[in-house]
Amino acid sequence: MTDLSDRTVFITGSGGVLGSAYVRRMLAAGATVVASDLPGPRAEALQNAHGEDPKFHFLDLDVSDETAVEEVFRRTAALGLQVNVVLNNAAITGEMLMGAGGSFPDFADTSVADFEKTLRTNLTGAFMIARQMDRDIVGKYPATLINVASMYALNGAHHPIYDGMPFKNFSAYGVTKAGIHGLTVWLAGYWAPRKATVNTIAPGAVFNNHSEEFQRRVGALIMAGRMCAPDEIADVMLFLASKQAGYMTGQMVNVDGGFSAW
Ligand SMILES: NC(=O)c1ccc[n+]([C@@H]2O[C@H](COP(=O)([O-])OP(=O)(O)OC[C@H]3O[C@@H](n4cnc5c(N)ncnc54)[C@H](O)[C@@H]3O)[C@@H](O)[C@H]2O)c1
Repeated sequence: MTDLSDRTVFITGSGGVLGSAYVRRMLAAGATVVASDLPGPRAEALQNAHGEDPKFHFLDLDVSDETAVEEVFRRTAALGLQVNVVLNNAAITGEMLMGAGGSFPDFADTSVADFEKTLRTNLTGAFMIARQMDRDIVGKYPATLINVASMYALNGAHHPIYDGMPFKNFSAYGVTKAGIHGLTVWLAGYWAPRKATVNTIAPGAVFNNHSEEFQRRVGALIMAGRMCAPDEIADVMLFLASKQAGYMTGQMVNVDGGFSAW
C-alpha cells in the first residue's frame, strides 16, 4: 500500500466524485489532507465524512478568485501545515453543469461568457494555484504538483455517444484539459532546478450512476470495455503523490482503460 505519511496534500475541488475519493484514500494512506472546494453540499458532505479525523482540514476556496488563491497557502501555514503535494483537481465538468441544472448548447450557440467561465476555473484557476505554489513553496522544500486533465485532453470527444444524453461534452472542457498539460510541461523544466516536480493525470470515464446505455456506448470506445471506479483513478493519484514518483516530472499519465491507445 502507498505510504503518504510524509505528505501534506492540498486538493482543490475536493468534494466531487474523484476529489472525495482522493481525500478518503489519502487519509487512509497516512497523509495530512487539506481539502478545499466551493461552499455547498459537497463541501458539507466531505466535512461530515472526515471532520473527526485530526489529519483532515477543510478550506473554502473558489479557484477562480485570485485574492482567495493568493491567501490559500498562508491559510494552510496558519493551521501549522507545510503542504508538499498540490492537486489541481477543481473543474467545471459536464457532471457539475448537469447537477446545477445547466444546459449544453450546440457549439454554434455557445456564448463567449460560458466558454471563458470554464477557462477561468479549469485553466486560469490551475495557473493561479501553481503560481502561488511557486511563490510560497517551490525552492523552500521539495514539492510536487499534480494537474488533472482528462482522456478528452489530447483526444477528441466521440460526440455520437452523447446523443440523447442529459449531459454533453462541451468544447471549453477539452480545450482546458489540453491546456493544463501545457502548464505541466512548461513548469517541469522551470521548477526542476528548485526540486519541484509536476505531472498530469488524465483520468478516463469514471462511473457515476450513468445509464446502462451510456455505459455501453462509452465502454465500446475503451479497450477495457467499461467505465472505471473512482478508486481506480485514486490508486494512480496516490502513487503520483508519493515519494516513489520522485523521478517523474513533465509527464501525462493516462488512466483510461486503454481509451487513448487504440
Ligand atoms: N469523472 C470523470 O469521468 C473524469 C474524467 C476525466 C477527468 N476528470 C477530471 O477530474 C477532476 C475531478 O472530476 P470529478 O469527476 O470529481 O468532477 P465533479 O464535477 O464531481 O467535481 C468537480 C469539483 O470541482 C469543484 N469546483 C468547480 N468549480 C470550482 C471553483 N471555481 N473553485 C473550486 N472548486 C470548484 C466542484 O464544486 C466539484 O466539487 C476534474 O478536473 C475533471 O475534469 C474527471
